[in-house]
Amino acid sequence: MTGRVSRAWTWLGERLPLAAAKSFGEHKTVPVHGYSVFYYLGGMTLFLFLVQVATGILLMLYYRPSADEAFESVEFIMTTVPFGWLMRSLHSWSANLMVFFAFIHLATVFFMKAYRRPREITWISGVLLLFLLLGFGFSGYLLPWNQLAFFATKVGTDIAGAVPVVGEWMVRFLRGGDRVTGGTLSRFYGWHVAILPALTTVLLGLHLLLVQIQGMSIPPWLKRRGRPGGSMKFFPHFALRDLFGWVLALGVLAALAALFPWELGEKADPFAPAYAGIKPEWYFMFMFETLKLIPGGEILGIEYEAFPILGFGVLGLLLLLVPFLDRESEREHPAWTAVGVVMAIYVVGMTAWGYRSWVPVLIVLGTAALIWVLGVGTRHPPAEPPRTGESP
Ligand code: HEM
Repeated sequence: MTGRVSRAWTWLGERLPLAAAKSFGEHKTVPVHGYSVFYYLGGMTLFLFLVQVATGILLMLYYRPSADEAFESVEFIMTTVPFGWLMRSLHSWSANLMVFFAFIHLATVFFMKAYRRPREITWISGVLLLFLLLGFGFSGYLLPWNQLAFFATKVGTDIAGAVPVVGEWMVRFLRGGDRVTGGTLSRFYGWHVAILPALTTVLLGLHLLLVQIQGMSIPPWLKRRGRPGGSMKFFPHFALRDLFGWVLALGVLAALAALFPWELGEKADPFAPAYAGIKPEWYFMFMFETLKLIPGGEILGIEYEAFPILGFGVLGLLLLLVPFLDRESEREHPAWTAVGVVMAIYVVGMTAWGYRSWVPVLIVLGTAALIWVLGVGTRHPPAEPPRTGESP
C-alpha cells in the first residue's frame, strides 16, 4: 500500500472494525461440489437489482408521475434525453431478468434444501424479497401510462375485489379510489420509488448479512454421504467468477436493450373500450390463466374467483413456512421435492398456456441446460499456488 492509502487505512481502522472484516474476507470459503453453480444465482439477482437501482435513479430525473405527463415524459426520455432510450430499455429488460433469476434462485435453494436450520430466516427474507420484486413489477408496469398498462392494472386491481370481506377495501387501497386514475399512478409511483425500495433495502441487507454469517449450505444428501467435497476461497476465486457472470450479464442486457428496445405503445385512454389483448407481466401469467378457467358465479355470496385467489394466498404463506414444514430428519422424505417439481411444472405450464406458446418451456429448459454446462465447468476448485517452502 502506498503511504497515503496506508495512512487512510490506519485512520479508518482505528474507527471501524476493518481488521476483523479483512480477516473474515480472507478466511471466507465456498463449498465446491456438483451443485456449486447454484451459489451464483443469488449474486446474479443482486447484480440485476443494482442495475435496477442505477437505471431507475436516472429515469427518475425525467419521469413525471401524472396522468397528463407520464406518457409524454417517457416519450421524451426515449427520443430526446441522451441515452434515455437505453436506460429505459435496460431498466425494463433487467427487471424481467431479475424476477426470472429470483425465481430460479428460489427453486435451486428449495431443491438444495438450503432453507433448513439455521437458514430459516434467510429463506423467509428471500420469499419476502420475491414478493417485493413482484410488487416492483406490478407498480412499474403502470408508470408509462400506456393502453396496455392501464387496462392490465384495471384488471389486476379488479381481481383483489373478489376477496371476501376486505376485497372492496383492497381495491380502493390499491387504486386510491374507485377507478384507475392519475391518483393511482401517483400512488404506484410512491410504492415504486420510495416504499418498495426502502423495504427491499432493509430485507436485502438482512438476507445478505445472514448469508455472510452462516456461509453457504451443503445439500443434505452430500453431507449424509460424508462427501461434502472441497472448498474454494471467496476472495479472489469465487468473487472473480461472480464478476465474470456479472460482466457477461451486462453484455447480454446491453445487447437485448439495443436490439429489442422496450416499446411504449399508445397513451392510455380511460374512455376507450377495454383493450383486447390485455395481459399481465409474464410472472403473473400463471395466476391470471388460473383465474380465467374459473366460471362466473357465486356461492353463499362469495364469488367463485375468490377461491383460487385465496388459494394463492395460502400457497404464498406455505412458501414462507417451508423451513418449518420440512425439517431435517433421520430419513429424508421425497414429498417436498415432489411438491416443488409439481409446482414448477404448474407455473411453467400455465405460463406457456397463457401465451399459447412453447417459448416459456424452451426458455426454462435452455436456462437449465446453460446452468448445467456452467456447473460442469466450475465443478473443481482452482488449484491454490504452493506456499513458500512447499514443492509444487
Ligand atoms: C432480491 C432478491 C434476492 C437476492 C438479491 C438474493 C441474494 C442472495 C445471495 C447473494 C446469496 C448468496 C449466494 C447464493 O447462495 O446464491 C443468497 C443466498 C440465499 N438466498 Fe437469496 N436472494 C434473493 C432472493 C431470494 C429468494 C426469493 C429466496 C427463496 C425464498 C432466497 C433464499 C436464499 C437462501 C435460503 C440462501 C442461502 C443459500 C445457501 O446457503 O446455500 N433468496 N441470496
